[in-house]
Amino acid sequence: MRSRVSNMVPRRKFIGCWFSAKKKKKVNLEKLRAIVESHGAILKEIDFSKTMKAQEPFDAIIHKMTDRMIEAMSGNKRAEKNIKDVENYLENHPNTVVVDPLPSIRKLLDRHETYKLIKGTKLCLNGTLHIPTFAYITSRNEADILEQMRANSVEFPFVCKKSVAHGSASHKHNTRTSTSYGNQKFAEFSQYQDMNRQMSIIFNKEGLKDVDPPCVAQTFINHGALLYKIYVIADKYHVVQRPSLRDFSKDSLKDHKTIFFNSHDISSGDSSRSKLTTPDEEDVQIAPPLETSAIDAMTKELHNELHMTMYGVDIIASIETGKQYIIDVNVFPGYDGVPDFLDTLMNHVMKKLEPQTNGISARKQNGSAKTALIKPLMKTRSNNNDTNCHEEPPLKKSSRNGVISAKNKQAR
Ligand SMILES: Nc1ncnc2c1ncn2[C@@H]1O[C@H](COP(=O)(O)OP(=O)(O)O)[C@@H](O)[C@H]1O
Ligand SMILES: [Mg+2]
Repeated sequence: MRSRVSNMVPRRKFIGCWFSAKKKKKVNLEKLRAIVESHGAILKEIDFSKTMKAQEPFDAIIHKMTDRMIEAMSGNKRAEKNIKDVENYLENHPNTVVVDPLPSIRKLLDRHETYKLIKGTKLCLNGTLHIPTFAYITSRNEADILEQMRANSVEFPFVCKKSVAHGSASHKHNTRTSTSYGNQKFAEFSQYQDMNRQMSIIFNKEGLKDVDPPCVAQTFINHGALLYKIYVIADKYHVVQRPSLRDFSKDSLKDHKTIFFNSHDISSGDSSRSKLTTPDEEDVQIAPPLETSAIDAMTKELHNELHMTMYGVDIIASIETGKQYIIDVNVFPGYDGVPDFLDTLMNHVMKKLEPQTNGISARKQNGSAKTALIKPLMKTRSNNNDTNCHEEPPLKKSSRNGVISAKNKQAR
């Protein structure tokens, strides 16, 4: 009798994915599909109008459900149901690889929570990296704000940033969207996201009237108008340089009126230098180089702490002290200027799926990434040709795991 086992062909892997309509375009879903197929797997878009059970199996799930998660947290019943269903599915299918786990992402949805988390990491406690002092502001009262600033050592000038999940904007948004679904929802969500990008720089007591609570007040760091965007994909990262807010001299602070800006216009991939990101000629300061050894340590620690695969970290370096400050952490960022990030992602996912044939559960991998996926030295330093690069990025040390490319639109 022929053995049944010898005839068994392992079925093709199903890779589920969910992205908002906007993110789908950005990611290039068709390219992702082709890459998935080149690995012998099948890409299956998750349809939130059906249950996960009705669409299974899913061997892996790649997603950016942050919008949906925020809506669920804000009380949108439909979004709540979708997210619960995904969570239940993952709970009942510990072998499904998820990029990235929802509990990890949840920790990054609120700016204030993210800053607290980063501040508590070994990385910040031992001074490898820093976070500008910050305070959560819930009141418009000047005395209350000053007290919050004092208690948290926040100084003028500070950047006033909305916290995503708990802002009044999100509540307003929720009222409008709780009964809507589909394209209109996305339009309204973009509008809300735009509100979240409205920021201000507050220079003095007179400016405190412009604080729009609830928000995070974060001490402004002069940093040579240069932002380092660290795009992480599992054990690899890319550094891209972007324009950033200009420095402000001490003399200009006393009487400076509040500056309002939309953060999208400052450092995003398609933002070029503007008045706000171009220092006066006499104020031009060269941004300190990025200490890539600190970035190596950061990716390792955040990987262990957060079990995240796809995230971005914004870093600025103080022109006064050279200290490097984390100012923002993003889930599944745009990866603008990072070639082949989808290939790297899929290689990572397929590698994670491999051990399952050896009986190692994905939950173990999703949850404890300690056996680092950190690879040996990948000393690559490439400038990306299509990114309008004018100069070598200032890098202090060669990177262990990083690929350094530059997106430098500075008019220097
Ligand atoms: N503490 C800070 N000091 C100096 N500049 C800052 C600080 N925080 C933010 N910025 C500037 O504001 C921009 C937007 O801030 P960020 O926190 O990254 O918001 P977003 O989530 O919209 O990307 C940054 O790219 C940087 O230019
Ligand atoms: Mg940012």
